[in-house]
Amino acid sequence: MAAPAPGRGMDHDLAPTGPGWLVALETSGLGESLRQSVWLYPLVEITHILGFALLVGAILAFDLRLIGVRAPLLPADALARLLLPVSMAGFALAIPTGLLLFTTEATALAGNPAFLAKLALIGLALLNILAFHRLAGRRMADWSLSDRPPPGARFAGAASLALWVGVLACGRLIAYL
Ligand code: HEM
Repeated sequence: MAAPAPGRGMDHDLAPTGPGWLVALETSGLGESLRQSVWLYPLVEITHILGFALLVGAILAFDLRLIGVRAPLLPADALARLLLPVSMAGFALAIPTGLLLFTTEATALAGNPAFLAKLALIGLALLNILAFHRLAGRRMADWSLSDRPPPGARFAGAASLALWVGVLACGRLIAYL
């Protein structure tokens, strides 16, 4: 039996306890087959890692430009045309695979502080993206070639850098808590 990440010592012989919907998710056929298959869990986790590597890699590169790195050598809007689709492809991989990983140990993960912190940071990071696209991002053509992006863009870039690095750190800490 291929257990999820080592170190958590989950004894899957014991029936999971907790809120009904979490127990139902964990004992579902999907949760069971992900736990029982030797290669399915690693395959999903590898895809999760590919997803967040694309997502966070592209976002961090754009954030560096937003805080002024390599400005005005790299037009911000040209960079966005490359990095935004890459980050969206990463997001489209990271979310469903994360949910699949979650089904294997839903009751335990729902009480895992690193997992809960990670979800909270993802929520804040997505709010930051929304605010950027509604405000400074909407006028990107005006400052795309300027050597000092406006304060709103620099703030969004710095906040995003901190939030997504926090998500990565919490993601890794899940296995240790
Ligand atoms: C979209 C942004 C996300 C990022 C950047 C991200 C990042 C990470 C990272 C860095 C790890 C550690 C990988 C490792 O060291 O092996 C991880 C593991 C994990 N993630 Fe995510 N994740 C994201 C979304 C999600 C979502 C939405 C869920 C579930 C609702 C989720 C559930 C998990 C679980 C359960 C693990 C633990 C896997 C294990 O330890 O075996 N992730 N994630």
